[in-house]
Amino acid sequence: MDKKTVKIAPSILSADFGKLGDEIRDVERGGCDLIHVDVMDGVFVPNITIGPCVVRSLRKLTKLTLDVHLMIDNPIRYIEDFRKAGSDWITIHAEAEKDIELALKKISGLGAKPGISIKPATPLGAISRYLDSVQLVLIMTVEPGFGGQNFMPEAAAKIKELRKTYKGLISVDGGITPETARVCVEGGVDILVAGTSVFGTKDRKLAIEALRG
Ligand code: DX5
Ligand code: ZN
Repeated sequence: MDKKTVKIAPSILSADFGKLGDEIRDVERGGCDLIHVDVMDGVFVPNITIGPCVVRSLRKLTKLTLDVHLMIDNPIRYIEDFRKAGSDWITIHAEAEKDIELALKKISGLGAKPGISIKPATPLGAISRYLDSVQLVLIMTVEPGFGGQNFMPEAAAKIKELRKTYKGLISVDGGITPETARVCVEGGVDILVAGTSVFGTKDRKLAIEALRG
């Protein structure tokens, strides 16, 4: 994957929630490919964000793929709600779910694209047995919970290692800037999730283009 074909998924965590419609239209005009939605429960991560009702509203605002990243404990409980609300891709955390296989089956059974994510300290070995059941692996490049953190450079080796064997989509999330994007794309990443470096700037089109390189 080269930088021109890499997909950009702005994370609305860094958007202004008081004017989400304007924010979404702005990044759409800027040429983004997906909308990344961070769902946090205050248990799996020390922050609380949004639930299915906001996803339902987002669904009315855009035709772009809603890439929903569930940072919640036992996500299997809410998969149906998030799908019904209009999520296209649903990613669960390997550390958060007891029956990962069943949760992934549930996601695909409901017609969504199943993804699995791991925190920086979780080794690839923790998800190797699920790689045939997912279409997306989301590598966290910061500790999940908050936007605006710095990219953890040790993630680069993990990305390269995964790319050797995994043919599906690889996404990275956390601290993605034009500089760290380059490292990820060189490692074989397909999707760049970016909050601060897109919504934290005035000209979102320029920001998205800078990420593409
Ligand atoms: C962090 C979230 C990210 C976050 C990225 O837990 O999963 O999607 O919004 O934000 P930045 O790009 O600011 O690191
Ligand atoms: Zn995320």
